[in-house]
Amino acid sequence: MSEAIYKTRVINTRDLPETALALVQMLAGPAQAIQRGELVAFPTETVYGLGASAFMPEAISKIYEVKGRPQDNPLIVHLADLKDLEQVAQDIPDIAYELFKAFSPGPLTLILPKSDCIPYEATAGLDTVGIRFPKTATSRALIRAAGPLVAPSANLSGRPSPTRAEHVLSDLDGKIPYILDGGNCQIGLESTILDLTQDPPQILRPGGLTQETLEAFLAEKLTRFQAKPGVTGPAKAPGMKYRHYAPKALVTVYQQENQKQAFADWIEASSDKRIGLFLSDREAEEFSGYLTSRLGEEAASHKLAHLSFIPTEGEVNPAFQKPILLYSYQGVTEAAHDLFAAFRFYDEQGVSQIFVQGEEVSGAGQAYMNRLSKAAGGEAKPLEVYKHH
Ligand code: TXA
Ligand code: MG
Repeated sequence: MSEAIYKTRVINTRDLPETALALVQMLAGPAQAIQRGELVAFPTETVYGLGASAFMPEAISKIYEVKGRPQDNPLIVHLADLKDLEQVAQDIPDIAYELFKAFSPGPLTLILPKSDCIPYEATAGLDTVGIRFPKTATSRALIRAAGPLVAPSANLSGRPSPTRAEHVLSDLDGKIPYILDGGNCQIGLESTILDLTQDPPQILRPGGLTQETLEAFLAEKLTRFQAKPGVTGPAKAPGMKYRHYAPKALVTVYQQENQKQAFADWIEASSDKRIGLFLSDREAEEFSGYLTSRLGEEAASHKLAHLSFIPTEGEVNPAFQKPILLYSYQGVTEAAHDLFAAFRFYDEQGVSQIFVQGEEVSGAGQAYMNRLSKAAGGEAKPLEVYKHH
């Protein structure tokens, strides 16, 4: 799949037209492409999805081809209206309706028994199917025009999930006919996956909806799925079998206890290569203070570029040439929003090692630390230092 077979068209859907008719016209090309069995990338509130008709086995197979996705990794079906649930699932428990009514559209995927309409190509041979209702107006309009869509994240397998249209373009240019550009994804990490085919229900992947929120709603404690060593078969949770969400650079998650030592090591590391830092505003302040005290104002300013947002891919700025690129965030929600974009930005800048600050593994921090530890190639142990390779 290396050769370009499409002239990929990027359609700006950031400002959607006022009237339903104009919206239908805007999405007519992409909707028809879906119905012809082609793939269309679209924005959701979590990450960009790579959509195919949920009812077309050949179109679904293309998703695996284009992404280089392992065949045993099942897809999520995306719907716009609750009334369509019965088309794609069966034996649906009341709690599924209650959960979807409470949290959809939004970052919640439920695993349910699949209906006969959903081909095994979509579920990696499983009799169950993941279903969610994405929140963006663009995704909802596309689904209403083209029917239910199966969609994984719209990245090449193993790479960080795309949170901007330009990320999709850099992975899939020439491989798909359309990318719908909806700007930055609101959340930046994938949906929470809850398996309702098990009693009690189990969280297969932490995500945009917190475990605490789900537990409060269900009035019960939930367990997280843990991979059993030696068990094979379709992947229950992403990242279990494959390295995921990873930039090319080595990712190290560092603990704050050894802060001063870590700072010294980073300065050392950046003397022979370029490094990227991803820290809270507070920690970033500490670090630049430390750098200045070690090297003096002038030398420190030559060494460090401190960014408060992730630049657009392809943007050129002399500051990006500096050996230490530091991005800082206010809180964990902002960190989650920008993590994947930062990974891609640092890769583009030729950074060889990325140091990321660990956060608490609760609330929004749970999904965040899950992605981070997977990018670093480890399990979710936030107070240790991970490395991949
Ligand atoms: O936020 C999201 O969920 C994004 C956007 C595009 O909607 N989608 C997404 O898809 O993250 P993907 O393909 O990257 O992750 C799908 C994961 C699979 O790796 C698997 O763990 C789980 O969903 N999954 C899907 N169907 C399943 C099933 N029948 N049983 C268990 N797990 C399933
Ligand atoms: Mg993915």
